[in-house]
Amino acid sequence: MHVGVIGTGYVGLVTGVCFAEMGNNVTLMDIDEGKIQDLIDGKVPIYEPGLEQMIARNVAERRLSFTTSLELTIERSLINFIAVGTPPDGNGNADLSQVFEVAGNIGRAINTYKIIVTKSTVPVGTTAKVKEIIAAQTQHPFDVASNPEFLKEGNAIDDCMKPDRVVIGVEDVRVGEILKELYSPFVRTGKPILVMDVASSEMTKYAANGLLATKISFVNELSRLCEKVGADIEMVRIGIGSDPRIGPQFLFAGIGYGGSCFPKDVDALVQTGAQYGVSLKILEAAQEANKMQRKHFMDRILAHYDGDSLSGKLFAIWGLSFKPRTDDLREAPSLELINFLLDQGARIRAFDPVAMENAGKILGHGVEFAPGNYECLEGADALIIVTEWNEFRHPDFDKIKSLLVQPVIFDGRNIYNPKRMIDRGFYYYSIGR
Ligand code: UDX
Repeated sequence: MHVGVIGTGYVGLVTGVCFAEMGNNVTLMDIDEGKIQDLIDGKVPIYEPGLEQMIARNVAERRLSFTTSLELTIERSLINFIAVGTPPDGNGNADLSQVFEVAGNIGRAINTYKIIVTKSTVPVGTTAKVKEIIAAQTQHPFDVASNPEFLKEGNAIDDCMKPDRVVIGVEDVRVGEILKELYSPFVRTGKPILVMDVASSEMTKYAANGLLATKISFVNELSRLCEKVGADIEMVRIGIGSDPRIGPQFLFAGIGYGGSCFPKDVDALVQTGAQYGVSLKILEAAQEANKMQRKHFMDRILAHYDGDSLSGKLFAIWGLSFKPRTDDLREAPSLELINFLLDQGARIRAFDPVAMENAGKILGHGVEFAPGNYECLEGADALIIVTEWNEFRHPDFDKIKSLLVQPVIFDGRNIYNPKRMIDRGFYYYSIGR
């Protein structure tokens, strides 16, 4: 099939490449000439395991091409996905200006029947608005559809190639059939392709992220109570997660969720509720609990020093990205934590396997970056673990002890066994234990 993808951000790039991998002819379009030129030159703008090789293979086999021309993309492709950014607008809403601008341009470019699919995460009603905008520009026939993505950064290729489900929202069953055909090779293991109305499809995406964020905030709140009553959140997590009604995933206590989706999507859903006069108290509380969790971790650091100033202390930070296997720093807890410590007069030396370059652009002065995780520790007053990269899970603890001025570890991801850490002679602080 001929597929166009408009917007080569995280979602557009991964999705487009996976369609090509399934044998489709894919045109990936972006207005950013530099980005398109980089992609043509084989440079991939994001870090995602396996993506670079997959792009190279599909370009070589001539199923994947890049362009800045929307007209060319639309002309070539029956099915066109809108995958441009919907960043927060500063008032808790999703900024839809890019989506609507693209819709207008699509309307002007259409010259024969096309299917236009919203892939970006968009509030309920957006796909209908896209339809209106296109219709105002063209006499040619077209249909719209909604098809949210459920990719997790760091695991995006696998999530895309083997989705748990595909959600498609349509106004016309025939469009559903065409999109089902596109997706059928991705669900050979029997996972469902769920065809529904457009509004339900748009809502499904927000509902999924809202519930996942709520799960995390729920365990994070309980973790604070566990600390008080002498319970261990890790045991509680296993205890509740083995009930199939609850499930084991997204119950890991930590320093709060981050990333480009959860904080933004939960806010946007709350705003949609407000617009329609429906108050979404649970989601509001999930956001509030997330903020409190980050603050709680900072308070634990302050509490260890018992009122002493952090001024002049050197903190080693392991992990900067909002989660492992990505270089993405959007809403990363590390940024808030580092800025807090800098405000207290502390010094920071950080190490992250892939996110340091991006972090350097955001953090600027005051933060030193180390070439490796042990170099990061030399002469530091404490180690703070912010992101649970696998390479941090089994370090040489004697080496850590010898490099730190004081054997103090604040672990925001519960990656070590507290009892063993005490036996090893560390002051070890983790979450909910
Ligand atoms: C999320 C959704 O999972 C995905 O389906 C959607 O398409 C986009 O948003 P992503 O933002 O890539 O994906 O990250 P995810 O793996 O979901 O983690 C989000 C945040 O929650 C991270 O900060 C992570 O550290 C945190 N988290 C996750 C926890 O604190 N505890 C958990 O148990 C799971």
